[in-house]
Amino acid sequence: MKGPLSTTAILLAGMYVFLKFILPLFTAPLPASLIYLYLVLTLSATMIFFTMSGSSLDSFMGPIGRFLAGTDVGGTAKTARLLVLIVFPLLVGWQTYTRLAPSDLPPAENRTIHPAPPGEFVGLSNPYPTNEQNIQEGKGIYAANCSPCHGPNFDGKGTAAPGFNPPPANFADPGTIAQLQESYLFWRIKKGGVGLPIEGMPWKSAMPRWEHELSDEKIWKVIIGEYDGAGQSPRTWEEEE
Ligand code: HEC
Repeated sequence: MKGPLSTTAILLAGMYVFLKFILPLFTAPLPASLIYLYLVLTLSATMIFFTMSGSSLDSFMGPIGRFLAGTDVGGTAKTARLLVLIVFPLLVGWQTYTRLAPSDLPPAENRTIHPAPPGEFVGLSNPYPTNEQNIQEGKGIYAANCSPCHGPNFDGKGTAAPGFNPPPANFADPGTIAQLQESYLFWRIKKGGVGLPIEGMPWKSAMPRWEHELSDEKIWKVIIGEYDGAGQSPRTWEEEE
């Protein structure tokens, strides 16, 4: 088979092999998006070249038109046409589906889950003792405000949780509040997702800012209730050192 179509195919394939396999021998490998861009440019250039005159346009588009219209005689051409007409819409449908279907994979960007708190929160300690009354009071505040997201069992599985990415923190997991000091929680609860610094991707967190709804006293007490309910205890540097 000779003609503009096969020339285009050979050019594209050659370009791909060159960009993907030969060029990396000399420089850093190209990102896939750049290779794709070069291929589109190559395709555009060949199409411009082959559609410059009427006759070359006909020899470029003619075979495509005859193939799709089914005027090419022969059984194999017919079967091939049928295959293309079935497979192509399926491919487009599949591509669209995979692009749009929600995925539970974590987003590609790196999010610092525990960025450093602002200076004014460092080293604060809970002025309220961990006693039965404060635990109960804290758990009450928690049940009223936090459990829809963080879950009645403190495991991040509240009824509203599935809608959020990043998901509400699972306090029962050793990777969250067990690693943190109470002052850190005080900051996160008071300032919420919008209070996160840039590396914490503030715009992605649904964690509300509680400073207007809850007094400092209530925040300290909800922290007590949270640790007790999750079966964790706060990190204290002094004891470790
Ligand atoms: C609208 C849902 C929602 C509600 C309500 C909510 N949170 Fe959160 N919370 C989140 C999400 C989402 C995260 C994880 C993202 C982040 O760290 O900001 C989070 C994170 C946290 C963290 C940080 C944990 C860590 O490991 O860094 C603490 C502490 C916390 N929440 C406490 C609370 C408390 C206490 C309340 C109730 C007063 C509460 N949250 C109410 C959604 C919520």
